[in-house]
Amino acid sequence: MTRNFNPALMDVADRSGTEVTNAARGDARLLMCAPDHFGVDYVINPWMENQIGRTHVTLAKEQWENLRQQIALVSPLDLIAPVAGLPDMVFTANAGLAIGEKAVVTRFHAKERRPEEAFFRDWFERAGFAVASWPQDVPFEGAGDALLDRARDLIWCGHGWRSSEKAPKLLERIFETRAVGLRLVDPRFYHLDTCLCPLPGGWLMYYPNAFDEQSRALIASLTPKEKRIEVSEEDAASFACNAVAIGRRVFMNDASESLRARLRCAGLVPVLTPLSEFLKAGGAAKCLTLEVRRPQAR
Ligand code: ARG
Repeated sequence: MTRNFNPALMDVADRSGTEVTNAARGDARLLMCAPDHFGVDYVINPWMENQIGRTHVTLAKEQWENLRQQIALVSPLDLIAPVAGLPDMVFTANAGLAIGEKAVVTRFHAKERRPEEAFFRDWFERAGFAVASWPQDVPFEGAGDALLDRARDLIWCGHGWRSSEKAPKLLERIFETRAVGLRLVDPRFYHLDTCLCPLPGGWLMYYPNAFDEQSRALIASLTPKEKRIEVSEEDAASFACNAVAIGRRVFMNDASESLRARLRCAGLVPVLTPLSEFLKAGGAAKCLTLEVRRPQAR
């Protein structure tokens, strides 16, 4: 296969040049969806304002392919077929939440995205997941608003814009894992994965002002100060928190030198994968992936 990513952005030390198989990461893998039909066709978050029809198709494909190739070096990938007329389907983080053999399919708050639900449900079923039932009147936008902690059994949940405040309790019952709800208050950070990222080793990267005071206090009570990586508004607006952590690598659209230094101090390796075209739709690296992990890998 061709590799047209920029090697200068990679961590050279452990770049193997070989795409990994399922066996290499237990059974953990990432789901992505090619941007064949991606674009900004409607406005359902502040980033999409004034962006209708303004994404560069070729650049979007190059950026997505670059991300795919870099991730493929360290994780097995699955692809779901893109569907014409569903421009946001590239954001597979919103397909649902899968932990072990169970999955919950997203119930979109945004009616523009509801037609995606059937395709994602079909994918989970064909992949062999037991799809749990979910009340249709409770919006829940999947891994966009539910993030697994990397150091303990805990699901961080976001609500306020897209997902319901009722989601954590339901998730707790389905996955038999503690779930805590955090209220999002800044419309730019409408999904939890746009402003919070649990990292290996118990580190937590987040943008404090995206949360109400009570939620900030909850984050502080659950994460020791020395493990909290608070990002600036500028880094947050570059979607730095919308990162995919695999092993020591943290794939992200962009990060300031100071944030990159803090990540390195935490033993992590920031890998920048520019995703300007997807930012116009309000998403970046993490939104473009869904981690699905089988029980034996946890
Ligand atoms: N345009 C999409 C939406 O507003 C972007 C989704 C980004 N996904 C995410 N997990 N943050 O729904």
